[in-house]
Amino acid sequence: MLIIKGLTKYFAKNSPHETLALDNFNLRVGKGDFVTIIGSNGAGKSTLLNLIAGTLQQDKGEIRLSGEMINNQPEYQRARWIGRVFQNPLLGTAPYMAVEENLSLSLKREKRGLRLGINENLRNFFREKLSELNLGLEDNISKKVGLLSGGQRQAMTMLMATMFKPKVLLLDEHTAALDPESSKKILKLTQDLVMERQGDLITLMVTHNMKQALEVGNRTVMMDRGRNIFDIQGEEREKINVDDLVRQFSILGNRKDKYIEDRMVLI
Ligand SMILES: Nc1ncnc2c1ncn2[C@@H]1O[C@H](COP(=O)(O)OP(=O)(O)OP(=O)(O)O)[C@@H](O)[C@H]1O
Ligand SMILES: [Mg+2]
Repeated sequence: MLIIKGLTKYFAKNSPHETLALDNFNLRVGKGDFVTIIGSNGAGKSTLLNLIAGTLQQDKGEIRLSGEMINNQPEYQRARWIGRVFQNPLLGTAPYMAVEENLSLSLKREKRGLRLGINENLRNFFREKLSELNLGLEDNISKKVGLLSGGQRQAMTMLMATMFKPKVLLLDEHTAALDPESSKKILKLTQDLVMERQGDLITLMVTHNMKQALEVGNRTVMMDRGRNIFDIQGEEREKINVDDLVRQFSILGNRKDKYIEDRMVLI
């Protein structure tokens, strides 16, 4: 169980540029939950993920995972149980290292300090994992990652973010920078990799695509100005469509003026 209680984060506090990015944000996510997160630009979605990962420190509130308070743990410590994939396919992999070296690095985070040599067994394991991506990467394991396409790199990052069996998977618009075909493939891969964990993983996926937000995963959270304003799952989620969701956004966010704009951004 991931429990986020009263999470508050300011940027540039006590300055003229002070921004309240997260405002007493609350969320409880059970093991096996796959939550999609929506909200307009600046709603605090990336800030939330950065606070969970430890890239940022909160001003107030707490984050607990399986009962343990983790919000004071340094980022490298949390990296042992958190997998992340960002919007930018260039992040998450090391371009000058070979495919197999990148994969080996992602396993290393679990066994910090232990040198992981790449032997034939491990190489075969990587080939097997790569072949599941259907991108032909299993025949190119010594290729430098910088030579791969954006879609191929993002697929590798997905693999690296899940291969070490994290407890939490954080996806921040991870398909947004890809062409429609690659985007579809990465989303399918995401669903397959999450499914492989058979309910043993917590997934948070930020998206600007409202349709995706309702179709992927089992729960949808809507953020606005740093708050959790709408949280649906089960039957309620099944019944709702994109138009309803947009309507909820304008009602709950109390922003009729942004309705049209957000609709265009979010669909
Ligand atoms: N490093 C930073 N320094 C100052 N302000 C920041 C910083 N990061 C985020 N903010 C501000 O905090 C608020 C929340 O930003 P955040 O990036 O979390 O939004 P978001 O929901 O991810 O938006 P988007 O959909 O555009 O990615 C915004 O007002 C943003 O300008
Ligand atoms: Mg963001």
